[in-house]
Amino acid sequence: MTPEQFVAGLPKAELHMHLEGSIEPDLFIRLARRNGVEIRWKTEEELRAAYSFEDLQDFLDLYYDGCRVLVTAQDFHDITREYLARAHADRVLHAEMFLGVQGHTTRGVPLAAVMDGVLGAMAEAEAADGISAGLIVVAQRHRTEAEALELLESLEPWYGRILGFGLGGAEVGHPPSKFSEFFRRCRALGFKVVAHAGEEGPAGYVREALEVLQVQRLDHGNACMDDAALVAELARSRIPLTMCPLSNLRLNVVPSVAAHPLKRLLDAGLCVTVNSDDPSYFGGYVNDNYLACQAALGLERAELVALARNSFEAAFITDERRAEALQAIDRWARQAEAA
Ligand code: ADE
Ligand code: ZN
Repeated sequence: MTPEQFVAGLPKAELHMHLEGSIEPDLFIRLARRNGVEIRWKTEEELRAAYSFEDLQDFLDLYYDGCRVLVTAQDFHDITREYLARAHADRVLHAEMFLGVQGHTTRGVPLAAVMDGVLGAMAEAEAADGISAGLIVVAQRHRTEAEALELLESLEPWYGRILGFGLGGAEVGHPPSKFSEFFRRCRALGFKVVAHAGEEGPAGYVREALEVLQVQRLDHGNACMDDAALVAELARSRIPLTMCPLSNLRLNVVPSVAAHPLKRLLDAGLCVTVNSDDPSYFGGYVNDNYLACQAALGLERAELVALARNSFEAAFITDERRAEALQAIDRWARQAEAA
């Protein structure tokens, strides 16, 4: 069995992806036409050629501009349904998806269109493919904490259908502590809490996310490498890191996948997971990320299994579902061994 075949059949959870970052060029053009939104690119090839970035901000400028094609509940439904179908094809059994709600409501899209579009598609995907999904609303860190608190309040009608809250967008200059009250309220309401930290920001931001925001997972977390005591603490606590190797490559967070800290952190005993972040922009879905790591870091089959196991250890699911998923991984590993 080739690594491609092994990864393709490996049951996994995806825990770090932005729905707005999963719009494939063909869908992007269809949405722009459907909504009469003027875009700079005429063809899928032109769009793909534009996906070359200096850094996170350079990417975010294009990404936020691209969000203009999302207008109706049907649009939010379609991007969610397409992503979940694509994830199912990668043998993702469970997905936790980020949604940057403020990027839409501030353009005048009704909150109900955003939320009901996404949530309806999640239910459809589960009924069609058995894939479970959770929604994590991310506050945009370039905005104020007051705006994040308004966002939280406005979502009250959907509280029962939201899994958690997170923090995304431009990192440097916007430390986690800027959102301490927002996270305190999210935790008090019983939501899961996660935050992007240590993607471009320093190890100190990772510490703040843990100590001030009390996050249950770190998104990226690369910069923890610069603080040996922090690495030891993460190994002890098993607070998961949702890492995104191809994203890090495309945003120049790492010079090559071979230089990515994923294997070093896995070896150090951290609960590291592999994810796609913004798959249509960064040239790969979750399996492409596993395979890029396998090839560049020389991962053994046992390490691919460990990464998949970690994805379910880190997922916000019931212990029963976790046990089922871990058994499915073991079954696949045994089947592959016998092949
Ligand atoms: N929003 C979408 N992708 C992101 C990333 N890689 N970092 C921070 N915010 C994001
Ligand atoms: Zn992200």
